[in-house]
Amino acid sequence: MPLKQNLAEWAKTIEVIPVTTAQHSEIVRQIRNAGYINLAHEARILSRRENEHFWEEQGAGIRAWIYKRAEPSGTVIGVGSLRERDGKTWAFVAVPPHLHGYGYGTHILRDITERSEIDVWAVTRDRNGPAMGIHKSMGGWEEVSREPAKDGAGEIVTQVYRKVPHG
Ligand SMILES: CC(C)(COP(=O)(O)OP(=O)(O)OC[C@H]1O[C@@H](n2cnc3c(N)ncnc32)[C@H](O)[C@@H]1OP(=O)(O)O)[C@@H](O)C(=O)NCCC(=O)NCCS
Repeated sequence: MPLKQNLAEWAKTIEVIPVTTAQHSEIVRQIRNAGYINLAHEARILSRRENEHFWEEQGAGIRAWIYKRAEPSGTVIGVGSLRERDGKTWAFVAVPPHLHGYGYGTHILRDITERSEIDVWAVTRDRNGPAMGIHKSMGGWEEVSREPAKDGAGEIVTQVYRKVPHG
C-alpha cells in the first residue's frame, strides 16, 4: 500500500523537534536550499551567514520544526515553520528532494497548521506544482489573490487556511 494511505499510522513514528539551536536552523537551511528554485520569495541559495542573520532577526517571530523518523537512522524527512509577518502567520514547508512524492509535505503542512491558533497564510509560486499540490491535498485552503512574481517567473498565489470564523 502506498505510504500516503498510511499517513496517520506513519505519523506515530515521526519525531517532531522544535528548532532551537544553530545546528537545527542549519538543517532547515540545507533542506530549504535544496529546493530553492521555485520558492515564492528569495528563490536563491541562502548562505550560512545569511541564515544565521535571518534566525537572529526573526527571534520569537518564527516557530519551526524538524520532522525525523523515530528510528535509529533518524532520517530527517522535512521541515516546517510558522512565521509572524504583517500581523499574519505564514507557513513554510520543505522536504529533501529524494523524499518528494511520499506525502511528507502534506503531512507537515497539516501538522504546522494545527499548531497555529489563528489563520495560516501561504505564498506559493503557481509553477511550483508540488507546493500547490500540498495545499490542495490537505484541503481547506482558500486562494485569496494572485499577482505576477517580481522576478517575472510566473505568478505568486496567496492562500489562507481559516482557523477562526470569518465574517
Ligand atoms: C513542496 C514540497 C514540500 C512538497 O513535498 P512532498 O512531500 O513531495 O509533497 P506530497 O508528496 O505531500 O504532495 C505533493 C502533492 O502535489 C502533487 N504534485 C506533485 N507535482 C505536481 C505538479 N507538477 N503539478 C501539480 N501537482 C503536483 C502530488 O501529486 C501530490 O498531490 P496528491 O497527494 O494529491 O497526489 C516539496 O516539493 C519541496 O520541499 N519543495 C521545495 C520547497 C518548496 O517549494 N516549499 C513550498 C513553499 S511553501
